[in-house]
Parts: sequence; C-alpha cells; structure tokens
Amino acid sequence: MRLHVADHPLVAHKLTVLRDQETSSPTFRLLVDELVTLLAYEATREVSTESHTIRTPVAETVGTRIADPRPLVVPILRAGLGMLDGMTRLLPTAEVGFLGMQRNEETLEAITYANRLPDDLTGRQCFLLDPMLATGGTLVAAIDFLFERGARDVTAVCLLAAPEGLEVLEKAVGDRVDVKVVVAAVDERLDENAYIVPGLGDAGDRLYGVV
Ligand code: URA
Repeated sequence: MRLHVADHPLVAHKLTVLRDQETSSPTFRLLVDELVTLLAYEATREVSTESHTIRTPVAETVGTRIADPRPLVVPILRAGLGMLDGMTRLLPTAEVGFLGMQRNEETLEAITYANRLPDDLTGRQCFLLDPMLATGGTLVAAIDFLFERGARDVTAVCLLAAPEGLEVLEKAVGDRVDVKVVVAAVDERLDENAYIVPGLGDAGDRLYGVV
C-alpha cells in the first residue's frame, strides 16, 4: 500500500475550518468539495493516458488524453457521496458506481447494503471515496470487492485517516503497489467509539444532518 498525505497550506487551512464544530453544514459541504478537488489532483497522478493527435489553429500536434477503459469513481454511501462532485470535477469522463457500506456499531465490521457497480471491472482504475479512514474495515471490504471484480488498481481518497486504520489496511493489502491512499491528514488515534481524534466528528452527520 502506498500512502500520500497532501502537504499543502490550502489543504491545512481548509481542513482546520472543516474540523471546527462551529462550521455549518453548508460550509462543511463546500469545504469537502474543495478539499476533494485538491486531493483529486494527487489521486489521479497515475491515471492511464494515451497519445492523441489534434490540430491547433497553428499546427498538428500529439497530445495526451485519458485512455479507455474509463476510470471508475466509487463513493461509499453515505458520507462518500459528499466527495463525488469534487472528484468528478477533475475527472468528468469517469464512470460512477456506488457502494453502500455501513459499520455494525457493535462489531465494527463492514456490511455491504447496496452495490451499483459493473460486475466486470477488468482493467479498470478505481477511485474509492470515503472521508474517514477510521478502523479501516469498510475500506478493506470495499477494496476486496473491487479487486474480486478484476479492478486493475484502487486509489482511496480520504479526508482523514487514523493510524490504526492505516495499519489494518497495511496488514490486509501488504506492499501491493496497486493500492494507494491519498489523505489530507493522518490524525492521532481512534477513541473508544472508533471516532478519529481530533477528527471532525461524524462526517455523514456533518454533511447531511443527523438521520
Ligand atoms: N466515521 C466518521 O464519520 N467519523 C469518525 O471519526 C470515524 C468514522
């Protein structure tokens, strides 16, 4: 597994406002959107490209375009949905699939309750969106799900990660270079309820309200 922590003053500034409990839902949503767009730039660094010949008003030239098959962006419901627009802004030709995963609050295990993905992901580059890499259970299950269907590589885009979750992921996928995690920050630890500390609270609740 390869980890990339986005080290940039704009990311640090926006993340601080995002964490603040005084930040309202509308501002929170806007900041998530902006942060994901910044993370998307890093996350797509290895997207497959091919040569493409075009004619400028002056001359013919060989440029670059994103190759087929199209990348697949997969928000993990519900909180990952708040990251979708920020990602597809930079990758508008990507296909979008959905995975509904929830952790059982007692066992902390991930349960898949919805799946809207192509059955065959052979050769596809996949981008998983999940704001909080806490215990790592959901992400490990989602990564397995994509590789079982033939994904070529998986990049998880997260806002915050806990060291405990990164360790679980590292144990599950080892040193596979086809798994990458891009995060805005790695926090201190998990608390007894598996919340990230200092974190930002429940990302889904802060995006959409408590339901
Ligand atoms: N999910 C969240 O929304 N927040 C956490 O801190 C951990 C998991």
